Amino acid sequence: MAPVPGPAPLDAELLARWHRDGFLSLPGFTRDADVVRARQRAQELVALLGTERNLAAGASRFSTRNRSLVADQRLLASAHQVHAFFEEEAFDADGRLVVPAAQAINKIGHALHALDPVFGRFSCGPALAALAGHLGLQQPQVWQSQLIFKQPRIGGEVGWHQDASFFVTEPITVTTFWFALEDATLDNGCLWVEPGGHRGPRGVLREQYVNDGGSLQMRTLDSTPWPDASQARPLPVPAGTLVLLHGLLPHYSAPNRSAHSRLAYTLHVTDGIAPYSPLNWLQRGPALPVRGLASSLSGKPDLAESS
Ligand code: FE2
Repeated sequence: MAPVPGPAPLDAELLARWHRDGFLSLPGFTRDADVVRARQRAQELVALLGTERNLAAGASRFSTRNRSLVADQRLLASAHQVHAFFEEEAFDADGRLVVPAAQAINKIGHALHALDPVFGRFSCGPALAALAGHLGLQQPQVWQSQLIFKQPRIGGEVGWHQDASFFVTEPITVTTFWFALEDATLDNGCLWVEPGGHRGPRGVLREQYVNDGGSLQMRTLDSTPWPDASQARPLPVPAGTLVLLHGLLPHYSAPNRSAHSRLAYTLHVTDGIAPYSPLNWLQRGPALPVRGLASSLSGKPDLAESS
């Protein structure tokens, strides 16, 4: 797959919207052929990781409502792997799978950009580097990548949050690159945002997800309330759209009760000139360093089963 093609540079109006709203949708940013290849690769990874054997080995379940369901050590290890997490609602009360294993994956992360050849190429290139520069990221650094599946009927809710909670820098610089690999609609769990919620009195970091001696915890930093329904705006977008999110922008996505999946691929990128908090849950070192948006793979593929 070729690098993501170059869009026209952001013009003044788009940049003004970005600064005003804290989000920006760029329809058609990703070429159709690259969307198709990324979807194919996602299914190949599902075939490798979404197996009964993987589940029998004690696979991780992902939940934003009950974080204790995520085994801290597995989450920490996933920073350096291509690791599958499974939907809470894929299991009944007795822990038995209620859908085929391949349809039970919530997400795969968090080093696809560094270890997977297809997503490695997808995650870099002059277009992405130029775009990051337009957004003001002087030294863009990719910390993590995720395939987020939002499976039909059981795709879980992700409640209001700010992505900066997971990637604190001083000052806050993290920017989310959210690539729609399938259409995201009101029915299948598209993003919802609070326009402008990244600035002014509401643009404060409410929480930080920290590694406290190996124990992962969400700490409250500020009691500013999350948006109410009147402040939320949906972001339905067609496949091929790149959605950019400011790290302080509150956003959420609803459960997917439809018959259609909502596949997305995300990168979280900070500016290397801003110090990265040593408390952040995801740390990188020489074995798998952060990389820029212009470089290629960092290490050997490590397709981790959940054991
Ligand atoms: Fe997010």
